[in-house]
Amino acid sequence: MLLSEIAVAAGRLAEAGVESPRADAELIAAFRHCVPRAQLNLVADADFDPRFWDDVARRAAREPLQHITGIAYFRYLDLEVGAGVFVPRPETEVMTGWAIDALGEMDVAEPVVADLGTGSGAIALAIAQEVPRARVHAVEADPLARSWTERNIARCAAAAPHTAGRVRLEDGDFGSALPDLDGKIDLVISNPPYIPVGAGLPPEVEEYEPSAALFSGADGLDAIRVVERVARRLLRPGGVVAVEHGAPQGTAVYWVFAEENGWQATRNHVDLAGLDRFVTAVWP
Ligand SMILES: C[S@@+](CC[C@H](N)C(=O)[O-])C[C@H]1O[C@@H](n2cnc3c(N)ncnc32)[C@H](O)[C@@H]1O
Repeated sequence: MLLSEIAVAAGRLAEAGVESPRADAELIAAFRHCVPRAQLNLVADADFDPRFWDDVARRAAREPLQHITGIAYFRYLDLEVGAGVFVPRPETEVMTGWAIDALGEMDVAEPVVADLGTGSGAIALAIAQEVPRARVHAVEADPLARSWTERNIARCAAAAPHTAGRVRLEDGDFGSALPDLDGKIDLVISNPPYIPVGAGLPPEVEEYEPSAALFSGADGLDAIRVVERVARRLLRPGGVVAVEHGAPQGTAVYWVFAEENGWQATRNHVDLAGLDRFVTAVWP
């Protein structure tokens, strides 16, 4: 029975314009019936939960899948997400992986990291989990987003006690963040808002994600320029910065971190789809 309900649900989601209707119908069914997706065929007819259809209606109204299930997966973490916080994206996993490798190569006993605009805490918590020597300062200005960061810090501390206490949530604007750490940070990382104001977005993003997480000036680069200024102040000599950007912004962001601004070894990096996605640079 469940498999035929899933087929009907997938049709409804397709009509509503959902990008991956079959996958979403299956993931909703797996969430609602508390089974792995690969075991949906084992759910007995008698166990069908009619709330599945309420979830499908929410998704057909283009509410993000992760708001319905309450969980977003990011590298080796599952994070709580919902109204008021940006849902972490797979492209950010690639940049975070780059940062984790860079930290592994540093000859520093306890590297200090700043995650500017932490949202759910995805980047900060993944670094704390995968680089057990690192200490991460996670900066967030939005109080509602911060309530989700706090929840996820507690959730990760319960699941992986070695991360407890190594992510510190810092309240405030990242433009003036962490003045006590000027010149002392080994790695600055940020997935800031970078969408040009007025750009058209799918309903999942436009209607459900906080605009402070999305938009940043006419060319989308205002926050990235702030990150560049802050990274210059925070990094110790030889420290590195990684900043995410939109696919068409690779060249513009490269020049924000150009040699004439004092940066060295500036590089463009691509995401899993081969699109320009983040820039890294070294502070000499
Ligand atoms: C695109 S979201 C990224 C969230 C998270 N790092 C991730 O990758 O999933 C950007 C985040 O930066 C925060 N933010 C935007 N401008 C900020 C500022 N000036 N100071 C501090 N946080 C800011 C937003 O509230 C939002 O949570």
